[in-house]
Amino acid sequence: MGAARIVVVGTGYVGLTTGACLASLGHRVTCVDVDEAKVARLSMGRVDILEPGLADLVERGLANGRLSFVVGARAAVREAEGVFLCVPTPMGAGGSADLRAVEAVTAEIGDALPAGCAVITKSTVPVGTAKRIRAMIGRRDVPVVANPEFLREGTAVRDFLNPDRIVVGSDSPTAARWVGELYADLAAPVVLADAASAELVKYAANCFLALKLSYVNSMAELCERLGADIDLVTEGMGYDRRIGRTFLKPGPGWGGSCLPKDTSALVKVAESVDYDFRMLTSAIGENIAQRDRVVAKIAGACGGTLAGARIGVLGLAFKAGTNDLRDSPALAVSSVLGALGAEITAYDPAVSGGIDGMTVVDDPYQVAKDADVVVVLTEWAEFRNLDWLAVAEAMEGDDVVDTRNLLDPRVILDAGLSWQGIGRPRAAKRQIAFTADAL
Ligand code: UDX
Repeated sequence: MGAARIVVVGTGYVGLTTGACLASLGHRVTCVDVDEAKVARLSMGRVDILEPGLADLVERGLANGRLSFVVGARAAVREAEGVFLCVPTPMGAGGSADLRAVEAVTAEIGDALPAGCAVITKSTVPVGTAKRIRAMIGRRDVPVVANPEFLREGTAVRDFLNPDRIVVGSDSPTAARWVGELYADLAAPVVLADAASAELVKYAANCFLALKLSYVNSMAELCERLGADIDLVTEGMGYDRRIGRTFLKPGPGWGGSCLPKDTSALVKVAESVDYDFRMLTSAIGENIAQRDRVVAKIAGACGGTLAGARIGVLGLAFKAGTNDLRDSPALAVSSVLGALGAEITAYDPAVSGGIDGMTVVDDPYQVAKDADVVVVLTEWAEFRNLDWLAVAEAMEGDDVVDTRNLLDPRVILDAGLSWQGIGRPRAAKRQIAFTADAL
């Protein structure tokens, strides 16, 4: 396929990555947003999202003329061969996906689309959305294709350009094949499907990942109670190729902009066809239980009560490598700690500015100052390399709770502190020599 004329509606993290990457594959891409100031910034190559490689691709696309940014979808689509819908589909009332943005764009562009132009959903949308868009547009000459993204924040560009697979689904096989061809240079397997199956793949994959993590977090709890070590258990499990070694790390619970909303949405979708997806409901419940267990562990380190405790928090983003706070387990844990009376000082290398209920500082050592307990909530590698002796000196207490099993317990013990992770034996200060050897 030669260069296709593509319009991408929505310049959030999915839309901007999609637009910039499709331009880097040689297509002519116009990115549209309703936010004029954002369009002006992007047209000058200014990218607000922390996403490695994205700003470079935007700059290159602007320079070679394959990428442009405009306001107004209706005018932009008039010459398009394909229009990607990359607008937000947040969690709406009752846990279902809120499709108002998708519907608004569809209504805006429907009769302006040239004949044969494919409308392609990229954001995660409930099963049946392609059909609904088709009915809304009401034109036989405009096919609708579901082409879900599988981008992780922090590695979105790499994921886009090195996909495990491309999924395209439509009731028009020709349109689905055409969308698959847009990615021909990526040499990834293409799964051609009907629209409903393609839409479901995204939920099925994300919800499976959530199940995997809730399972690991439950297993970590079991390890603590049985005196086993989750790191060794998951290492032993992971060599089984049917299970795989990734996505097996326990933590303070799973979060971010996708897993929580997609799990809730799929439970709702299942309900709508009278299926009680108990396995998924229980994974969601387990995620809340995990947050509460982490809070209880921190309370324990504070001597049983959080009222008046000074807690130093390392990490606020939902995972390392991003500044995204949406549905961040670190914020969820912090807010429960705050509600129970703890005083929180937090540091995150990618987050600045005010957050209700805590003091955010721009120096990791400041969180340690007079802290009773220091808690690692996001797995930023730089926390591993802190001067833990300096942290110990600044602290009032001597407990470190590492909810990401990120730190080397020996380093923490050597600094004269105690370490406890998730699903691993505690390394207590009093048993320095013995425990350090045992680790
Ligand atoms: C996810 C999916 O991975 C991606 O395919 C989809 O397109 C969007 O949703 P993302 O939200 O960027 O991507 O985050 P991801 O890296 O999947 O992590 C999700 C959550 O699970 C985070 O809170 C993370 O900290 C947690 N996690 C992940 C763990 O606790 N342990 C792990 O081993 C992996």
